[in-house]
Amino acid sequence: MFDPKTHCVVVVGAQWGDEGKGKLVDVLAERADFVVRYQGGANAGHTVVIGDTQFILQQIPSGILHETTSCIVGNGVVLDPETFLSELDGLAAKGINSDGRIFLSDRAHLVMPFHKLLDRASEKSQNIGTTGRGIGPTYEDKYGRRGLRLGDLRHLEHARDLLKDLVGRANRLLELMGVEERASVEEHARLLERLAPRLVPITTDTGYLVYKALQQGRNVLLEGAQGALLDVDHGTYPFVTSSNTTAGGASTGSGIGPTAIDGVLGVVKAYTTRVGNGPLPTQAEGGTEEELRKLGGEFGAVTGRPRRCGWFDATVVRYSVRVNGLTGLAVTKLDVLDTFAEIPVGTEYDLDGSQCHEMPADVRALERVRPKYEVLPGWRKPTGGARRLADLPPEARAYLDRLQDLAGAAIRYVSVGTRRDQIIEV
Ligand code: IMP
Repeated sequence: MFDPKTHCVVVVGAQWGDEGKGKLVDVLAERADFVVRYQGGANAGHTVVIGDTQFILQQIPSGILHETTSCIVGNGVVLDPETFLSELDGLAAKGINSDGRIFLSDRAHLVMPFHKLLDRASEKSQNIGTTGRGIGPTYEDKYGRRGLRLGDLRHLEHARDLLKDLVGRANRLLELMGVEERASVEEHARLLERLAPRLVPITTDTGYLVYKALQQGRNVLLEGAQGALLDVDHGTYPFVTSSNTTAGGASTGSGIGPTAIDGVLGVVKAYTTRVGNGPLPTQAEGGTEEELRKLGGEFGAVTGRPRRCGWFDATVVRYSVRVNGLTGLAVTKLDVLDTFAEIPVGTEYDLDGSQCHEMPADVRALERVRPKYEVLPGWRKPTGGARRLADLPPEARAYLDRLQDLAGAAIRYVSVGTRRDQIIEV
């Protein structure tokens, strides 16, 4: 991915999240000097398997698993400080030392316990099926211009003043929601006092770090969380997360200009999944959905919820190519389809009797669309051992060719298993 002309690459999810970005970033990070997370928070769960050890990273970029890579939590992230520190400790317990190579943006907003309380109490969150990690309420405070940022931990008295305001407001909202539980300013202030000594020393102007790195010709990977269809602007609103998951968010969320970005890799599963509520046009029926879920191990990395599963939806990925400006695709979990005799692919939609080639903005229309399917022959052979395209059965290669044609972007990587080495570079 990196070459003399390509130093800054964005990796985004091109469906509804859980596409396997963690593994891709882990593979690409081998040649990256910096990996930057730029949006979302502890709602993400990036799974990476190295040898017999499985790592689930929620807020720390997967690049941390490479000794020489530095990791940044960018300004666009909403950081849950307690979860972050326990993630660091968990890594240390598995022998991963992150001293001197993890940095937090002083502009990133903090997720506090009262944000999680609000998220879980809110009926709106329940309708959307959020992860309950306080993501929406924290972004609400950010855009309401009253949020608490990591840089505020340098001045705890000032942080306490901000908390008074924020906690008071949260309690009024909880009362309106008819919930009995209340947040306490004292408890929140004590939490910050306890965490600040570990957070402040690694808090800095990370946008400047990335800028300097790029000026020096170093390689930077910008790691997205969730997927394009969960983007607050471009996703299936209101069934979305509260950040810009698409490539535009990589620039604002890491503090570098869009002209610094040389390429955008979109990660797609060879089929489709979604966790949480909202339309999923190519969702499979009963037994088939169950089979995809079982074969793909499709349960949420953060919440353990069963994911909804269905066939590859080319309308979704074509849209993702457009709104992200994808310069390449990485197709993951091809091996999950190894046993199917026939594999349907959604090529476009029918909406109220008319052809619909693009994603409708109106979620009610998206709920009514009926996908048109093209059925491709399966390969019924294991693909987990393939390391070159030529090692794949002809039907699997034909399947990939068809996805590429329908999506309108070239496939650069194919992942055929959870292990680091189970990847084909095209
Ligand atoms: P929130 O981000 O917790 O507010 O949840 C909003 C929606 O995004 C819900 O449908 C979640 O299930 C979904 N979501 C959030 N994070 C992820 C993720 O990492 N993978 C897949 N879905 C996610």
